Order: sequence, then C-alpha cells, then structure tokens
Amino acid sequence: MEMTTPWQLDWNESLSMFIPEIDAQHQNFIRLINELNEAIIGRMDIEEIKRRMQSILDDAAMHFAHEEVLFKEWGYPGAEEHAQRHVQAMQFFRKIMEEFGRDRTEYEWIEAGLKVKQALIGHLLAEDIKYRDYRVAQGQLSRPMP
Ligand SMILES: [Fe+2]
Ligand SMILES: [Fe+2]
Repeated sequence: MEMTTPWQLDWNESLSMFIPEIDAQHQNFIRLINELNEAIIGRMDIEEIKRRMQSILDDAAMHFAHEEVLFKEWGYPGAEEHAQRHVQAMQFFRKIMEEFGRDRTEYEWIEAGLKVKQALIGHLLAEDIKYRDYRVAQGQLSRPMP
C-alpha cells in the first residue's frame, strides 16, 4: 500500500448530484477525509485523529438527515431504503470510533480511516447516484451541459 497519501481524494464532475447544496456537502466530506488522512500521515496526536474522525461522523449525520428531508420534498420512492443505508453507515462509523479506545498501531489508524472513506464514497457512488438518476428521469433536474 502507498503509505504517503493512501486516500487523498479529489472531487470531480462525475461525483456531481446536480444539486449545488448536496455537491457542497459532498465536497466538504472529501475535505474532511483528506484532513483525516493528513493527520494520520503526519503522525498527529491520537486525540487529533479522533477529533477529525468525529468531525466526519458529525458531518455525515447532518448530511444524511438533510438528504432524507429532500427525499420527502421530491417524493422519492427509494427514500426508506436509502435512509436504512444511512443508519447502517452510521452504525459502521460508530463501531470504528469505539475501536479507537484501544491501543492501535499507525497501520490500524490508516486502515480505519480507509474504511470510513470507502464507506462514504461507496455510499455516494452506490446510493446517492440512484436519487440523482431518479430525478433526472423524472425531469426534476437536468444534467448540466458538458
Ligand atoms: Fe450523500
Ligand atoms: Fe445518502
């Protein structure tokens, strides 16, 4: 595994949900994930790493709730299933945070951060994409011209 920047991420157009407020929140996620990456790579204090991990969790909770409000506004039929995925993601993050109570090696921190990153980005690509495609299909929004 490349140990310098194992999960440095950049937002790009392919990640766009065509909803500026949602894109802004997803971009913020990526910024927080990169900051966590820097903390681990920079061998910052474990308390700082935990603090940055917690910021991602807090941000995820707010963002997920925000999406769920929008689903109601849109009458999105996948709302319930998507909300269930949010619950599962939060449970997964909390489990990772609980494991931070124990002594961990640097490698384990990198692994934990990588799991958080994969869960968030995986959710975005697998689940958020579905509401984007639904809304495009419904004519509720249009893909911006390339
Ligand atoms: Fe999202
Ligand atoms: Fe979501």
